[in-house]
Amino acid sequence: MALDLHDYVASIPDYPEKGVLFRDISPLMADGEAYHQATDQIVQFARDKGVEMIVGPEARGFIVGCPVAFELGVGFAPARKKGKLPRETVKAEYSLEYGKSALYMHKDAIKPGQKVLVTDDLLATGGTISATIDLVEQLGGIVVGCAFIIELKDLHGRDKIKGYDMLSLMEY
Ligand code: PRP
Ligand code: ADE
Repeated sequence: MALDLHDYVASIPDYPEKGVLFRDISPLMADGEAYHQATDQIVQFARDKGVEMIVGPEARGFIVGCPVAFELGVGFAPARKKGKLPRETVKAEYSLEYGKSALYMHKDAIKPGQKVLVTDDLLATGGTISATIDLVEQLGGIVVGCAFIIELKDLHGRDKIKGYDMLSLMEY
């Protein structure tokens, strides 16, 4: 029987700053069955989309995207924070629920026309995923879907990615 993945999310008030209720997926990752179930649900979403590449933002997007890429037998390209990529990059700026930042990808990370699934652990304001989509599109990739383990409904991140097919496994 399917697990209730809500049982594998820890909720921490006032982290990393006052007023933020932090949803931590570490318990889900620490449980082989729960991690596998979450991965499988995203793989099923991706199956009929002709996905050729997965892209995930640093750091928790890697945790979600890499096993999905492995299961689908496609590659994974990271969107990284400042100063982490050694070759020529493209850049996209964004703001967070608790800060401001920028993401980068190597210029050759995606081939023009490649179909890309973007993954992350959590959708909050949608800033991170919008920046990730922007990077993929700067490189000529086609975003065929976005998949998250958690969606924070009150922050309306979904509104920033209208027009993209989207999956979230849990809503808070
Ligand atoms: C968190 C989370 C998402 C993002 C969601 O990442 O993993 O990537 O915030 O927020 P948004 O929808 O408002 O952009 P964070 O920037 O904390 O980095 P981390 O994954 O390195 O912890
Ligand atoms: N990233 C942005 N907001 C978050 C939250 N409330 N919990 C976990 N990660 C987040």
